[in-house]
Amino acid sequence: MSQHQVIKRVTAPDIRERKGGETIVSLTAYHAHTARIIDPYVDFLLVGDSLGMVMHGYESTVPVPLDLMIMHGAAVVRGSSHSLVVVDLPFGSYEESPQLAFRNAARVLKETGCGAVKLEGGSRMGETIRYLTDRGVPVMAHIGLTPQFINILGGFRTQGRKREQWAAIEADAKAVSDAGAFAVVLEGMAELLAARVTGQIPIPTIGIGASAKCDGQILVLEDMLGLSPKPPKFVKEFAQMGAAIETAVKAYAQAVKLREFPGPEHVYGMRREQSVEAAPDAPVTKKTKITGT
Ligand code: KIV
Repeated sequence: MSQHQVIKRVTAPDIRERKGGETIVSLTAYHAHTARIIDPYVDFLLVGDSLGMVMHGYESTVPVPLDLMIMHGAAVVRGSSHSLVVVDLPFGSYEESPQLAFRNAARVLKETGCGAVKLEGGSRMGETIRYLTDRGVPVMAHIGLTPQFINILGGFRTQGRKREQWAAIEADAKAVSDAGAFAVVLEGMAELLAARVTGQIPIPTIGIGASAKCDGQILVLEDMLGLSPKPPKFVKEFAQMGAAIETAVKAYAQAVKLREFPGPEHVYGMRREQSVEAAPDAPVTKKTKITGT
């Protein structure tokens, strides 16, 4: 390498070092515009495969293709400059073998410029997480409620509300941590279990529907903005943007119908020397040519 460049973004090791320290703040982002707004206030931006449902209207995350994740991931990287960008590996792109996972994770890192990938699964993904981290791919794990398993789980059910479920989930957390994940998302998990897991592993836990006992929190941006039709119980709506959009669109429709919009302030006039004298049907000469659009 001819020159070491200073990495200004938050990195995966920075997140790893926050275990037990200042609470980690994160949100999902799917496009450049919103990434730019959120970026200064979060430690990492997750390009979650939930974009399949939120942006593309799929019923679950299962149909999301890798190319779509790469397209949105690149947009979020372009729109941000401070936070770590983590991109989800979608269903079917990593489960088959560590080698396939590496090929696809390498594409994600190269083609988006992001700093880490996230994948779902605990003990069963240990070997893959080790394979990726040994080859330069920082991995965030995701355990508890894993939406890519919807067809096995039969629904989005909270995990760990029965004590007999705890051992398996605790083993998952230990497995991903031992395998080298730099952080782990705990989704849809009873508070008591989330607190136990957080106390048992040396990497940060990022909760979504898993209580304030985790080392950090994440929400889907559209859920916390009040844009989602039926947000889960664990979501707090910090704004009512769905209602605000509807009010704005109604006002726009009415203004257009009443010909109140566009008003004089939104209209392009003629050049100053042309203005009033130029009759609407005056021949267009070099001088009367309309400029600008
Ligand atoms: O896809 C996603 O948005 C996620 C979060 C729910 C953590 O994985």
